[in-house]
Amino acid sequence: MKLEEVVPWGRSLHEYRAMFSLRDEDLQLNILGCGDGPASFNAHWSALGGRVVSVDPIYAFSYDQILWRVEETYSTVVEQTRSNAHRFVWREECVMRFKDADHLGAVRLRVAETFLDDYFESGRKQGRYIAARLPQLPFADGTFDLGLCSHLLFLYSEQLGFDFHLASLREMARVCREVRVFPLLDLEGRPSPHLEECVRALRGGGLAVEVERVHYEFLRGANEMLRVRQVLG
Ligand SMILES: C[S@@+](CC[C@H](N)C(=O)[O-])C[C@H]1O[C@@H](n2cnc3c(N)ncnc32)[C@H](O)[C@@H]1O
Repeated sequence: MKLEEVVPWGRSLHEYRAMFSLRDEDLQLNILGCGDGPASFNAHWSALGGRVVSVDPIYAFSYDQILWRVEETYSTVVEQTRSNAHRFVWREECVMRFKDADHLGAVRLRVAETFLDDYFESGRKQGRYIAARLPQLPFADGTFDLGLCSHLLFLYSEQLGFDFHLASLREMARVCREVRVFPLLDLEGRPSPHLEECVRALRGGGLAVEVERVHYEFLRGANEMLRVRQVLG
């Protein structure tokens, strides 16, 4: 993967908690984050005593290379958000209270800095950041209690086809007892064209699958997560 293909725009622990309905009890779980990129979830969850491993192809790159890409893409992403402001939920309505595109950009920069410090200081040495990519994960069956995937599957429905989605969900369900994915809309804010067929195929393979409302909505209408569970025999 080329770093030029990635827009490193990461979310905070507060957002992960809301997107995935995470509770304090979940600190006991062994968590896998797929496509965590520059999110600060791993840094903050680990600091609270949680166990989390993040996988993302960008972890093959150095601190300086990732920082360069964050800075290079920053103004483009803020400008795109500003011109599409009507597609997002701002201020009081939004769980995150983002005021405008500049405020969002400033929060995303702080998140990336938190990630980079953790990645460089201790995260990589502790094996909490692993360079790997869906649809193949370098873990044995059932290694994790919970797998999370934020703003990758379904969001990039046009770029990543149905086969990629199904193979990725099956792979996550192989290594995690439960999988949660958010959001279920594509980049245009439309329901992902892959969702229904993925749900049918996963259920056909014996997995329990539900779509659940969550207390997070920033992209207008994106307020549901997919939950996939292994059915205990
Ligand atoms: C929009 S970012 C989301 C980052 C983070 N999950 C969040 O919500 O803040 C998408 C991430 O997916 C990663 N990614 C792209 N292709 C991937 C793949 N095949 N497997 C795992 N991660 C991938 C990118 O490198 C990027 O960090």
